[in-house]
Amino acid sequence: MAGFIINGGKTLTGRVIIDGAKNSALKLMAASILTGGRTRISNVPIIEDVLTMAEMLQGLGVKVRADQKEKILEIDSSNINNPEASYELVRKMRASILVAGPLLARFGQVKVAIPGGCNIGSRQIDLHLKGFESMGAIYSIEHGYINCHISRSKGGGRLKGAVIDLDFPSRGATENIMMAAVLADGRTIINNAAMEPEIDDLVKFLISMGADISGQGTASLTIEGVDCLSGTDYSVMPDSIEAGTYIAAAGMCGSDVIIENARHENLEIFFLKLKEIGVDIDVVDENTVKVSSPEKRGRATNVSTLPYPGFPTDLQPIITVLLSTAKGVSIVTENVFENRFMYIDELNRMGANIKIDGHHTVIDGVEKLSGAPVRAFDLRAGAAVVLAGLIAEGVTEVSDIFHIQRGYSDIAGKLKGLGADIRVVK
Ligand code: UD1
Repeated sequence: MAGFIINGGKTLTGRVIIDGAKNSALKLMAASILTGGRTRISNVPIIEDVLTMAEMLQGLGVKVRADQKEKILEIDSSNINNPEASYELVRKMRASILVAGPLLARFGQVKVAIPGGCNIGSRQIDLHLKGFESMGAIYSIEHGYINCHISRSKGGGRLKGAVIDLDFPSRGATENIMMAAVLADGRTIINNAAMEPEIDDLVKFLISMGADISGQGTASLTIEGVDCLSGTDYSVMPDSIEAGTYIAAAGMCGSDVIIENARHENLEIFFLKLKEIGVDIDVVDENTVKVSSPEKRGRATNVSTLPYPGFPTDLQPIITVLLSTAKGVSIVTENVFENRFMYIDELNRMGANIKIDGHHTVIDGVEKLSGAPVRAFDLRAGAAVVLAGLIAEGVTEVSDIFHIQRGYSDIAGKLKGLGADIRVVK
């Protein structure tokens, strides 16, 4: 299995370009099912998760043509013949369940594997199912699969608009329900909806297909169902979490690193925390920032993850690396996922002093980290140990990097371009 070998202590400088957002591209691909026509999606990140979603769509009978060099996908969903998301693919990538809403809306039925737990804890899909149920679908669970179809007693062919109050602003549930609602009969209102910028991107994509959605950017989305949607041509927004990862790398060991396609309006609270730590961030224009690390060790601060516009849980492992060598004691609180601290022991193996107490970590900043063999436990935890390797003294070997490759396109190449000493080994 492949790994990264990182020789720490190099100063990063130069320019890095951020790719399209994974967490938008996957949803736009799923939403392409809603039309019987063709969609063209550009600025798609070429990462494992996108390839898995392409495989998922192909399994349904969708034709997907990928131009990896140009980062473009052409999707023709006119001949879907198998409305089923297999366990093999849902297990590999939970976002596969995002095909459920579109398939249900277009074909009145779907069979989708129950995802099960993952490395950041139990991840329910009850809110997705409750939403479908409110719109007139009925479901049963058998042999690890959810069979869902539109109830004949509620009119048969089409889902019915409904008012859906989410218990928690789940991104996946907001997206799945919204995609189901765009072809429903009547008006659907989703209250306590997730507000992440990627949700906005999906709203814009659906509107460009002919959907009628208002309330964009707020916690209440109103969707007036339409009879059909057409194909579209759309460019994916830049990835804020990828941007945050390189900004953090530059904030630890960078000098005037220019990060392009970093939409700072999506990263406000992250920037606020980095500034508290002492990272020097200069907003060059709406898509570009210049970042340098503090001359000495940064300052401790406290961080609490929350749904947008709160501090993003996906950047929690990333900022923890910065805090691991900051002066003083920091507390990081994880409020979105139940078990997102698996990587802490890896940082401690590199010399960090971090204690876990329930859903908090107490980080007593150390002078320096030292290179060690470490594992990537999941996508963002994996990126965190790579960042730790960049500042550690000596050599860090990161194994299980397939987790990282699920969501970062050529992370080794991009870091190397900034002057890091990192290589991929088999
Ligand atoms: C998405 C992102 C992921 C990010 C997360 C939170 C994608 C592909 N992934 O995941 O990178 O970390 O948002 O910002 O976009 N929950 C329930 N019931 C449900 C749905 C969710 O209890 O039906 C809980 C989950 O267990 C979790 C929390 O809600 O604790 C957040 O989940 P959600 O916002 O749905 O995250 P995802 O869409 O899965």
